[in-house]
Amino acid sequence: MKNLAVLAALLLGLTGSAQAGDAEAGKAKAATCAACHNADGNSVNPVWPKLAGQNEGYIVKQLQDLKKGMETQGKEGRLNPTMSPMASPLSQTDMEDLAAYFASQTAQMGAAKKSTLEQGQSLWRGGDKKAGLPACQACHGPTGMGMAAAKFPRLSGQHADYIKAQLIAFKKGERGNDLNAMMRDVASRMSEEQIQAVADYVGGLH
Ligand code: HEC
Ligand code: HEC
Repeated sequence: MKNLAVLAALLLGLTGSAQAGDAEAGKAKAATCAACHNADGNSVNPVWPKLAGQNEGYIVKQLQDLKKGMETQGKEGRLNPTMSPMASPLSQTDMEDLAAYFASQTAQMGAAKKSTLEQGQSLWRGGDKKAGLPACQACHGPTGMGMAAAKFPRLSGQHADYIKAQLIAFKKGERGNDLNAMMRDVASRMSEEQIQAVADYVGGLH
């Protein structure tokens, strides 16, 4: 399972394409995002994801996917009734600038929940052999920082409610913008209890 991340990176055709975003320009463009994600990307409402410190390439990909979701009514990309209309008017340059800005911000950490800590940590580090579930850290990293070059998202510090909602969406196939169905496969092997435990865990992981 250790080689999973490497394999996934290879499948993605890692060529180290540089992000060209301008964080200063992005800051000005982020005024419309602040209502939900906060000016510095540390959203307060737990159903709105934190963007602060998120990997730049991942943010650009999500904005492209959310825009495509709108254009295709969810047949391709990622469709969310709140966020897709926000991504629709953005140009490629806007997306890169916004991504550079939010990636440069510092994420505010949460705290892991004590009651589910042991189970969450065990799933994060070792997965669940019986269920064929790989360790989350194989792709999202030991401290949850993701893999920037492969566009694997940072989960460290993210809201538990948001993480849980995304895992359920992948499990049901409602979110299907993950390359090679990587996350749909992962989430399909998880019980609701495991989803809750790992969602509680990542907020304090760093
Ligand atoms: C009205 C509230 C609202 C506004 C304004 C808004 N967003 Fe969002 N955003 C959301 C919600 C809700 C989600 C989660 C969607 C989901 O559950 O799939 C989201 C998700 C995202 C994601 C995906 C994050 C991830 O971890 O996958 C990115 C990137 C993003 N927003 C960027 C932006 C940018 C850039 C702007 C400004 C141009 C913006 N948002 C404005 C509500 C908002
Ligand atoms: C084989 C690699 C791989 C493994 C293993 C993996 N993930 Fe992921 N994960 C991804 C990729 C790639 C994405 C981004 C998909 C996309 O482009 O939208 C992702 C996205 C996510 C997201 C959505 C984040 C956001 O900001 O919207 C969550 C939540 C998540 N993973 C949780 C987990 C958990 C929990 C585990 C362990 C049980 C896990 N992942 C294991 C590759 C992996």
